[in-house]
Amino acid sequence: MAFAPATALADLPDAAPVRVEVDGVPVCLVRTGDAVRAVHDVCSHQRWSLADGEIVDGAVECSLHGSTFDLDTGRPRTLPAVTPVPTYAVRVTDGRVEVDVAGPTNGAAVPAH
Ligand code: FES
Repeated sequence: MAFAPATALADLPDAAPVRVEVDGVPVCLVRTGDAVRAVHDVCSHQRWSLADGEIVDGAVECSLHGSTFDLDTGRPRTLPAVTPVPTYAVRVTDGRVEVDVAGPTNGAAVPAH
């Protein structure tokens, strides 16, 4: 585990994806109340930023072709994407959001970015 600073919790709107870079890795953060989840911010279909999309039923919807990705597992719920996106561990300490991008929690391969 190697948590690195991502942003302040106060800078994350509720249920709206936000793109940050953590140690040079693009990450899509989604806040729900005081909980924050993180997935790799590159769609596994055609490399679009997931943070450009919306949150639909606990998943982030890619704004390019509409695949939705479960925020807990990274798995696509809808086509055209068929490959999971990496998910990352997040912790919130004293209002600071930190993400561990060293190893995806779901074992998904990290695409080049
Ligand atoms: S680029 Fe995301 S669904 Fe096509």
